[in-house]
Amino acid sequence: MQIITDITQLRELRRTWQSAKEAIAFVPTMGNLHQGHLALVAEAKKHASKVVVSIFVNPLQFGPDEDLDAYPRTIEQDKSSLERLGVDILFMPSVSDIYPRGLEQQTFVEVPGLSYMICGASRPGHFRGVATIVCKLFNMVQPNMAFFGEKDFQQLQVIKAMVTDLSMNLSIHGVATMRESDGLAMSSRNNYLSQEQRKIAPRLYEVISDMASAIEKGRRDFSVLIVGARQQLVEAGLKPDYIEVRAAESLLQVGHEDKHLVILAAAFLGKTRLIDNIQVKLN
Ligand code: PAF
Repeated sequence: MQIITDITQLRELRRTWQSAKEAIAFVPTMGNLHQGHLALVAEAKKHASKVVVSIFVNPLQFGPDEDLDAYPRTIEQDKSSLERLGVDILFMPSVSDIYPRGLEQQTFVEVPGLSYMICGASRPGHFRGVATIVCKLFNMVQPNMAFFGEKDFQQLQVIKAMVTDLSMNLSIHGVATMRESDGLAMSSRNNYLSQEQRKIAPRLYEVISDMASAIEKGRRDFSVLIVGARQQLVEAGLKPDYIEVRAAESLLQVGHEDKHLVILAAAFLGKTRLIDNIQVKLN
């Protein structure tokens, strides 16, 4: 595995691959890799002859009161995991190479609508930061395809919309959420949980799974289900941020004709904000 920090060097290597007609898959990450990230890499390897992974903790997608400085960084461990999986390039640019004119002056990419709702309403500017960095990384790596976890379901929809809107020449693949044995969605932020909080955390998935079963059995009174689910989270010791039932692709309110739904939820356990989602396909 080649570790590249320099954008020019990345572009040179990219050119040689282009001449050799390699199919290039890209997995952007912020590091602190867990099985969820490694599943993205494994999926990427199935589809492409070369795999590039980036590690960049993107300041542009963190709000002023969020955990940018505390975000877990485990570079040596990450390198060994990626090496073991046979990744071709690990790209680790610096903040000054990515944002040479500073964060305040940075041109940004914003996907309207999708970026302002649900998580975007709780974290203003977050999806603008995500779309901007992902667009920049796509410009640098120029992959034929890129892989993202369905755990960040709204992020995946924002990126798909950006690719469509800006006529970007690559395919976007969503990969199913990896879960711990008790159902908790894998996330770097799980590292913040105390032992006590870790025992409570799987309730988030249990509660939305119960909602999904109820909807599959015919319940359509989503607002009643949401009130009940919020109550259950509070009783478990979680502080719900949002629980929503939406149409899976547009993330708009569910209409009669929608058959593919998603339940999205975020809740705080102490200072840690957990998110999860579950898709529901109706007949
Ligand atoms: O999902 C993440 O880890 C980040 O939002 C991403 C896509 C790497 C952009 O910084």
